[in-house]
Amino acid sequence: MVDIVSDIKGRLDINDVVSQYVQLKRAGHNFKGLCPFHSEKTPSFVVSPEKQICHCFGCNKGGDIFGFIQEVEGVTFAEAMKILADRAGLKIENFDKVVKKEGKTEKDEYFKAHELACEFFEKQLHSTNDGKKVLDYLYSRGVKDETIKEFRIGFSPESYDALYTELLKSGVKKDVLIKSGFVSVKNISSDQIFDKFRMRLMFPIFDALGRICGFGGRALKADQMPKYLNSPENIIYSKSKVLYGFSHAKKYIKEAGNVVFVEGYFDVILPYQEGVKNIVATSGTALTKEQAKMMSRITQSAVTSFDTDSAGFEATRRAFEILQKEEFSVKTVFAFDKKDPADYVHEHGGTAFKEAVESAKDFISFYMDRLIKDFDVDTFDGRKNVMNLLMPFYKVMTPTDRDFYVKELGAKISTGEKILYDEIDSYKLPKGHPARQSFQDSLSESSASKKFEIGIQEIMLGIVLVYPHIFAEISSVLTEDDFEEDCKNVYKDCLTQYNSFRIQEGKWDFESEVLVQFKVKTGVYMLYVEDKYQDFSDVAVALEVKKLVDSMKKSRRNNLLKELQLKLKEAEKSEDRELLIKLLQEQQILLSK
Ligand code: UTP
Ligand code: MN
Repeated sequence: MVDIVSDIKGRLDINDVVSQYVQLKRAGHNFKGLCPFHSEKTPSFVVSPEKQICHCFGCNKGGDIFGFIQEVEGVTFAEAMKILADRAGLKIENFDKVVKKEGKTEKDEYFKAHELACEFFEKQLHSTNDGKKVLDYLYSRGVKDETIKEFRIGFSPESYDALYTELLKSGVKKDVLIKSGFVSVKNISSDQIFDKFRMRLMFPIFDALGRICGFGGRALKADQMPKYLNSPENIIYSKSKVLYGFSHAKKYIKEAGNVVFVEGYFDVILPYQEGVKNIVATSGTALTKEQAKMMSRITQSAVTSFDTDSAGFEATRRAFEILQKEEFSVKTVFAFDKKDPADYVHEHGGTAFKEAVESAKDFISFYMDRLIKDFDVDTFDGRKNVMNLLMPFYKVMTPTDRDFYVKELGAKISTGEKILYDEIDSYKLPKGHPARQSFQDSLSESSASKKFEIGIQEIMLGIVLVYPHIFAEISSVLTEDDFEEDCKNVYKDCLTQYNSFRIQEGKWDFESEVLVQFKVKTGVYMLYVEDKYQDFSDVAVALEVKKLVDSMKKSRRNNLLKELQLKLKEAEKSEDRELLIKLLQEQQILLSK
């Protein structure tokens, strides 16, 4: 296990791994970019090729390549290992055995059950009589064999126990069957269990890593309700996080530099089949913040193409608000003569859809034009309505965009720019608007990860480690007691190395027992220092050190005074005169320092 980890580390460079998710720019020894873990405007995410670690000084997340992949893909260590081994071109024999230490998780049981169910549905589609009819239905909608295979579309037969029996036989636990939504329990005491997906076209839903985590089953009979029966949420399926088609589309999204958001399963697979492969679906619910965040790690340019009914129009507006918050540029395709992208592609072909996507209008212009069409802007009320409906967008825009769209609207509804700006100034975003949640979010995010808080002591250590030649001076004014906990141990190790002349060529021995143990932590402190002081002259760094020393001394003194205060109280209580005098003298000395 350890060997594989270092083997992978040896083959992959942190820059290459991170670059898949973040645009990096050189900054001194290091690279910097916008953090993939939280939204920000100025980069605080630093990557060190030398230390092979990355860290965000905004949200304090990061680590080595494994930690980074775990965080960015939301996976376990073992899964991160698998992803990175693939990337490194390493074939790990018996991977599952290798990571056995991690144990088979409960999640694995669910994934296994879903995989088995998918195989069962596929078999039903391709080798039963009813299945043949369903295949014909798919063909009639323009879906080709290769697409059916690629998206692993299947069929659940008209039976109350076919899947149940099959999965039970394969060793899937009843509990997993129930929580996966494959079966319902009619009567627990008599153990009456029956299949829930019956006579439906089955779309497996894949998670970001391409594992099946749920199903959407489309009705095949006219009176069948609901039209789509979906898997319930469970430990492997969270509706708000999954985007249908993401694992298929991911590499095409990166290639194209943008993503097309649609509503339904067919809206993904038909355009995909016909060449628009950078496409994902929200599966009929509103686009969520989590989905937008996940997407923003690989692109911040989106085209929405929802159904042409009023629900689709509303979904378009809400998706824009969410995407705007994650700093996407958003365009909109909404002028089909058909109900949705799937029907459009079936009727007019992929090229026509591709062209529609490429010539999409930016959302604000689209929305503005639509409102102007819906209201009579020759009347005062009409103009007022249009303005009111646009206000939430103006409020959140960048100043450049605001300037542009104020001019555009002003010209279109013959209203002065000053008036529009006054309206924008006095407008307040309604409660629940995505852009109003940012403060709360940042509070909960910052309290979620306190792992790598950088305080004065940490910065001081960073300086000691980055500039070994300053250590002589620092060690003449600081002692190990000026540091606490881990910092104390690191500083002590530095002292030992320094006193035993073990610093070779002015460099610390980072492989020493103590430093090796704190490698990632101290790496982060060093990154911080390298980043913060990269443009400082030696003199400026020396000044900074003096300031830090002063404030460490001050905080140590305050701590000691507090301690003394407590001891004094106790001495008073126990009327220990001798101790009292000694403590008062100590206090006097401290106060005079
Ligand atoms: P649509 O009703 O537009 O279906 O719902 P569709 O995908 O276009 O399917 P066809 O083309 O009519 O066969 C869009 C999406 O909303 C979700 C599904 O994900 C669907 O693909 N949905 C719809 C549900 O989850 N439940 C429903 O009852 C209806
Ligand atoms: Mn549709």
